[in-house]
Amino acid sequence: HVTRRAEYTPPDWQVPEIALDFALDAAATRVKATLHVQRGDLHQRPLRLDGASQTLLSVKVDGVAVNDWTLDGETLVLPLSGSAHVIETEVEIAPERNTQLMGLYASGGNLCTQCEAEGFRRITYFPDRPDVLSRYHVRMSADKARYPVLLANGDPIAAGELEGGRHWAEWRDPFPKPCYLFALVAGELAVNRGSFVTMSGREVELGIWVRAADIDRTHHALDALKTSMAWDERVYGREYDLDVFNIVAVDDFNFGAMENKGLNVFNSRYILADPDTATDYDYDAIAAVVAHEYFHNWSGNRVTCRDWFQLSLKEGFTVYRDQAFSADQGSAAVKRIEDVRGLRASQFPEDAGPLAHPIRPDEYQEISNFYTATIYNKGAEIIGMLATILGREKFRAGTDLYFDRFDGTAATCEDFVASLEDASGIDLTQFRRWYGQAGTPRVTASLHHTEGSGRAELVLAQRTPPTPGQEHKLPLVLPLRIKLFGAETAQTVAPEQTILLTDAEERIVFEGVTERPVLSINRGFSAPAILETDRTAADLAFLGAHDDDPFARYEALQQLMLDTLVAAAGNNRADTAAVVKAVAGTLADATLDPAFIAEAVLLPSESFIGDQMAVVDPEAIFRAREALRREIGRTLEADWRAAYDESQATGSGYVYSPEAKGLRRLKSVALGYIAASGASDAAALAFAQFEAADNMTDRQSALTTLVAGDSAERIAALDIFYNRYSDNALVLDKWFSVQAMAPRDDTGAMVAELLRHRAFTLTNPNRARALIGAFGVNQRAFNAVDGSGYRLLAEQLIALDRINPQTAAKLIAPLGRWQRYDAARGGMMRAELARIVKTPGLSKDMFEQASKSLDA
Ligand code: ARG
Ligand code: ZN
Repeated sequence: HVTRRAEYTPPDWQVPEIALDFALDAAATRVKATLHVQRGDLHQRPLRLDGASQTLLSVKVDGVAVNDWTLDGETLVLPLSGSAHVIETEVEIAPERNTQLMGLYASGGNLCTQCEAEGFRRITYFPDRPDVLSRYHVRMSADKARYPVLLANGDPIAAGELEGGRHWAEWRDPFPKPCYLFALVAGELAVNRGSFVTMSGREVELGIWVRAADIDRTHHALDALKTSMAWDERVYGREYDLDVFNIVAVDDFNFGAMENKGLNVFNSRYILADPDTATDYDYDAIAAVVAHEYFHNWSGNRVTCRDWFQLSLKEGFTVYRDQAFSADQGSAAVKRIEDVRGLRASQFPEDAGPLAHPIRPDEYQEISNFYTATIYNKGAEIIGMLATILGREKFRAGTDLYFDRFDGTAATCEDFVASLEDASGIDLTQFRRWYGQAGTPRVTASLHHTEGSGRAELVLAQRTPPTPGQEHKLPLVLPLRIKLFGAETAQTVAPEQTILLTDAEERIVFEGVTERPVLSINRGFSAPAILETDRTAADLAFLGAHDDDPFARYEALQQLMLDTLVAAAGNNRADTAAVVKAVAGTLADATLDPAFIAEAVLLPSESFIGDQMAVVDPEAIFRAREALRREIGRTLEADWRAAYDESQATGSGYVYSPEAKGLRRLKSVALGYIAASGASDAAALAFAQFEAADNMTDRQSALTTLVAGDSAERIAALDIFYNRYSDNALVLDKWFSVQAMAPRDDTGAMVAELLRHRAFTLTNPNRARALIGAFGVNQRAFNAVDGSGYRLLAEQLIALDRINPQTAAKLIAPLGRWQRYDAARGGMMRAELARIVKTPGLSKDMFEQASKSLDA
């Protein structure tokens, strides 16, 4: 069954008020729902309430038990005569048997909910669509010893004791909300409390709820929450609106976190951190996700989505907001590099593959499949381009107008764009194409200059390749930040300007060009495009040394490396010496931030190199990349050792600051190159770091280095790590991932063995992703020439689909890349996809992903 955007109709019935009464129990929970329903417009249609996986016990209309209802599939259909009624239903659900982790489920002995996108229908009968907004009154009762804490959305209003060791609590959320934002949590939880005074002087009580043993790992998340609240006031003028804001961390969660009104529920990996168990990367991710979910209170909750086709309205915008927040906390340049690297690793391939879709899709079979890098990260890039085009002040005026106009309503992407247009006076007609057109645009740029003419001409062209279902593409609006440097003096020849490329081809003339110009283009990655320029290796090396835009400088080095590696992987002449020289220059540049250096000297990933090739050859890519790593390691060995020692000398004790993070990052990159050089003491050096580490960043980077090699220390470190952290699920996930991502000949066999490890389970999504997900992105191991990697992934996906279809369907992407490989590999990948499609009892999540991947 396909749902289409064009077929949207407003809801037949509204539900302005709902009261829920939960008699909680892990095996059998009773849910009584009282819905105040109101007929919309002039129609005679019955009330239709979505439902799934629940047992209906009774139905009343206006206080009277009725039995003239029917079930249309799982939808409860009630004929009603008047325009307003009170509907009461009672159902039973079984949280502890809910392995899909959608609706009400059990995690670590506690009960919690996940409703977005369509989980609420697994809790009670309701019009499960985001344009039905209700005020919620929630009562919960439960065994007091097992579930001492009872939380729901909004503010707590009353609580009390019951007979038989049970107790109850009531919560009320004054803000009308769609049911996907409903949440409750019941369990044994400790709280780290804080408070925040809003800009209008209201005090908000903050609480981070975790199991008691984890309470010392919540301080970073609490700090991040306070920082986010202040940031959203300062940058967007958005103030928090309830008296309490609670976050609960759970171990079993299908994705990162959920912005339920006043009661965020998080995957524990995005809350829990201390130096011994979390890396700098984890600390950064925690702050980013805490901010993201908090920012949803306005971009998502106060203004929500009319239908799920508008998902990027809240997700793209909120990712844009959390990225800007993170950029403000440390190095904005490094943050931009990381975000673009992430976009290229997951979104570009998606846009080039069988599952390509616009940020506002036109149809879906299962909406869970559309929580994608495209909706989130390309969505964020598109908001970023709007911010660039409008400029800071007009963009802020536009978002103010948007929040003001649509507060308390369910809006569309068009509403957002129209608000920006109205507030700025800037015509965004053509820009809107970004919302409907899939695929990554390719921009070519060539700069022509005749010596002595004083003029330079830049020829720009754009083209977006076809994507499934979209043969013909139109030109997009691409804001390109451009600057020209003089090749001899390294001085500015033409100052930075933002060119709006709107046509298929355009020419821009620069006057007063007194020396040969070098083009710096798409500075800051101002448009999410794939760029092809006629810049030489010398030009790129020049920009890598002199560009004053840090992103552009990084990008020039990456392009130089990429060109070299693609040539080497294709057995063509490759000037590796130029790369070594550029790396040496970057490493030696004392004006640069160590965090930037660490990013800039890293070679592009195997998969990104593959994305540049007509036919991906994983073995050749791996060999070329390893050879270049060895050359960089060997030639600059003394420099790496110096960099390693210098970044080591940061004083004692773990500090989470941009400076300390940067040094740790450079240290781990240096260690990687020392190991790549083949130095005989490399394993000993890594093992010493592993043992001496007072933080997980250093320990994990040492382990990663050891696992890549064949030393005795490798086995020792893996054992020590496992034993030391055997009671910490999040750290064990790292233990699995490091091995699944290892650049080794035997990784496939190791992963097959780890699948049988006693600590491995498919029922925990983090664990499944740590092993199967990580293996799927290991280019060389997954693409083993005998097809064993493809078979392994398909078997696991089929098994996981029976337990948790949503999590399983997300992991299929690597098999969908079959068109990018040689015929033998492509054929084996297709065979596995076909096997998945034919599996009896396959979920609709998996069916949609597998069948689309196969058909393309
Ligand atoms: N809204 C959540 C967030 O991005 C994610 C919900 C994901 N839902 C899903 N069905 N995949 O913050
Ligand atoms: Zn979100």
